Amino acid sequence: MLLPVFIAVFLGKAASQAVPAQALVVDPKSFLALDTVLPPSESNFTNLFIPPGTTEEEAVAKPFHIYDNAFYKIIGSNPTLSIIARSEVDPIFHEAVVWYPAKDEVFFVQNAGARAAGTGLEKSNIIQKISLAQAEEVVASGNSSAEVDVTLVKANPPVINSNGNAGATNYRRQIVFTGEGQGNDTAPALYLMNPEEPYNTTVLVNNFYGRQFNSLNDVAVNPRNGELYFTDSLYGYLQDFRPPPGLPTQVYRLNTNTGSLTAVADGFDKPNGITFSPNGTYAYVTDTGAQSAFYGYNLSAPSSIYRYSVEDDGTFSNRKLFAFISPGIPDGVHCDTEGNVYSGVGDGVQVWNPAGTLIGKIFLGTFAANFRFVGKGRMIIAAQTELYYATLAAQGSDPQDQF
Ligand SMILES: *[C@@H]1O[C@H](CO)[C@@H](O)[C@H](O)[C@H]1NC(C)=O
Ligand SMILES: *[C@@H]1O[C@H](CO)[C@@H](O)[C@H](O)[C@H]1NC(C)=O
Ligand SMILES: *[C@@H]1O[C@H](CO)[C@@H](O)[C@H](O)[C@H]1NC(C)=O
Ligand SMILES: *[C@@H]1O[C@H](CO)[C@@H](O)[C@H](O)[C@H]1NC(C)=O
Ligand SMILES: *[C@@H]1O[C@H](CO)[C@@H](O)[C@H](O)[C@H]1NC(C)=O
Ligand SMILES: *[C@@H]1O[C@H](CO)[C@@H](O)[C@H](O)[C@H]1NC(C)=O
Repeated sequence: MLLPVFIAVFLGKAASQAVPAQALVVDPKSFLALDTVLPPSESNFTNLFIPPGTTEEEAVAKPFHIYDNAFYKIIGSNPTLSIIARSEVDPIFHEAVVWYPAKDEVFFVQNAGARAAGTGLEKSNIIQKISLAQAEEVVASGNSSAEVDVTLVKANPPVINSNGNAGATNYRRQIVFTGEGQGNDTAPALYLMNPEEPYNTTVLVNNFYGRQFNSLNDVAVNPRNGELYFTDSLYGYLQDFRPPPGLPTQVYRLNTNTGSLTAVADGFDKPNGITFSPNGTYAYVTDTGAQSAFYGYNLSAPSSIYRYSVEDDGTFSNRKLFAFISPGIPDGVHCDTEGNVYSGVGDGVQVWNPAGTLIGKIFLGTFAANFRFVGKGRMIIAAQTELYYATLAAQGSDPQDQF
């Protein structure tokens, strides 16, 4: 019962915005000076941060956390969040969430290399999809146990240990996946997949002048030049299904018209998600250096989003620290049409304004590796063993998000 007082006190100062039913207002000043601040052995990036005056149950029940008034415009007057599928322990709702507007379907991939999935060295992960029309029926039914059908997508030839998420329909009306590779003999690759049966695939690139990448993680299309930019990380090695790194961890750029393949950024620990600002003049790259998969955590390594300027010639310059995030690591990353930056982190999806200030959260109370705007005002969030459907006011900035 502390909560209404807390909200009222904050709103007294913050104009007359009505707080949506599923939203919680958090005043950043309310936790700058805490009575007790626990040491790293007890409070670190694996623990949730629950704002003072709030319980974890309240934080989950009202998942849209407003840290700055700018977040009201993003969530609109009636944001909603619903679980539309569950998968026990197998993390099938992991990454590569991508929308196919022509059929209003959403594709995603299972975690490659996760022990609970049994994927990695012995077998590849799988690609699956759902129908958004059916997801909306499930939500509208009001039956919290109802689930959407999850359908296997048999890519042919298969996409080995798929990951990442990229421009789908805006890249030649197909879906681009990164593949992390498998053992010594299946090189990491970028795959193009037909989003319609027979789901035929073509390998776009699988080497840098004859050398294997380490394990490709994410890919994005730059809206200015239409080229593919992708990250090469270490997770295949850190999940025991790839050999030790044979290249630095870098961001690469591929022009599929000319075949030109170049490295555009280095100096990372473990580069992960990549996206561009709405007009493509900034690139955002996440570094999940603090997370070494089977080999534990390093709390002093990056959990950070870096921003680059994208020059007219497509090269990167002006690397700067855009945001350091807590809790967890920043995995997938996307922008909305206003240039706000969203990332899947240890407690759900967090949102920063273009100046790097945290303005709000979609708080799940658990790690969201990836998410995607799927048309105006809709978002799918992949939280390993749960798939969420959210409605809000914002719109994604990737061209195919805007149908
Ligand atoms: C983080 O804190 C939790 C207890 O809250 C502890 O179990 C865990 O070992 C800590 N992690 C690190 C890396 O220190
Ligand atoms: C709710 O959904 C579950 C799972 O599909 C189903 O078994 C149950 O019959 C549904 N309940 C109602 C009232 O429709
Ligand atoms: C790759 O090959 C080397 C050399 O034969 C071998 O030692 C290593 O175990 C292999 N790694 C994997 C992941 O298969
Ligand atoms: C799939 O096959 C069709 C028909 O041959 C072809 O036009 C298309 O480019 C193929 N797509 C991929 C990703 O291989
Ligand atoms: C891109 O967008 C930014 C932010 O809105 C703006 O400052 C910049 O002028 C735009 N650049 C181009 C080339 O359109
Ligand atoms: C942890 O990360 C920091 C910063 O990258 C690095 O200096 C340090 O060596 C790492 N520690 C371990 C044990 O790997």
